[in-house]
Amino acid sequence: MKLVLQSVDEETDRISVFRFAATDGSALPGYEPGAHVDVDLGPAGIRSYSLIDWPQSSATLDVAVQREENGQGGSKAMHELAVGQEVSASSPKNDFPLADNPGFSLLLAGGIGITPLISMATRLQRQGQPFELHYSARTASRMGFAESLKTAFGETVMFYFDDAEPIDLTALLRAQPGGTDVYICGPKGMIDAARSAASVAGIPEGSVHVELFTSPEPQAGDTSFEVEVHETGQVVTVGPGQTIIEALEEVGLDVMYDCQRGDCGICQTDVISGDPDHRDVVLSDAEKASGKVMQICVSRAKSARLVLDL
Ligand code: FES
Repeated sequence: MKLVLQSVDEETDRISVFRFAATDGSALPGYEPGAHVDVDLGPAGIRSYSLIDWPQSSATLDVAVQREENGQGGSKAMHELAVGQEVSASSPKNDFPLADNPGFSLLLAGGIGITPLISMATRLQRQGQPFELHYSARTASRMGFAESLKTAFGETVMFYFDDAEPIDLTALLRAQPGGTDVYICGPKGMIDAARSAASVAGIPEGSVHVELFTSPEPQAGDTSFEVEVHETGQVVTVGPGQTIIEALEEVGLDVMYDCQRGDCGICQTDVISGDPDHRDVVLSDAEKASGKVMQICVSRAKSARLVLDL
């Protein structure tokens, strides 16, 4: 899609809402809650942003972006766009859909991870489906959309602050009725904590839906390892600050991927031998423990070499 930035509204000192319209004024495609668009930000690369749909829906495609001073440059590039500037973007795609026949839905947001959950709350409210939205931020000043959420969803929204009233995920998930679907979007630490609280509460893995909101950062102690391409025997070295996908592309190999955050599952690859160091949020604990598949956009190796079914 060719889009033009129609307006920018500051939500907090770091979060702004960017409204895009079609450059030729045509109607924009519809989308389901949880969908995102990939926006081409030139030298900063292609970045994915969840679309926000409020009850008073607009004719624009709206995304909220939090400026990350130490990020990879995408959020800064977006914040530097001027109204009237044109960008290319994908059509809406959805890796984080609502279940087909939701019963009770528990929406858990951490920080800027609130954005896809706003669209979900809007849809559930329109359909008259029961839900609650529990939203955590580090501090009140860093929380975007608090007033709009209160206006739109009233007492179905609860707010938590890490520095004052942190969320008790264990108690919250234990209190859920049977058949609850849980939707979680936020940073990896929050997703991991919510998933393990859901597991302790006996909520089936298939009822826990997640989307990661930050790109995984390299971890201290990351070292090089080798990847052997099973079909050809070619061996590629993956450097400490590099992903497997980057290393494969560097030697001219073509692999499929999308989110590059470890949450869409597109890059999933079978492991023939070696010990993966899983860093995604797609695989279940059992799948990770099996060591038979991995997400090559974020995961690394505990062994010196991985042989992958490529
Ligand atoms: S590209 Fe999405 S999980 Fe790897």
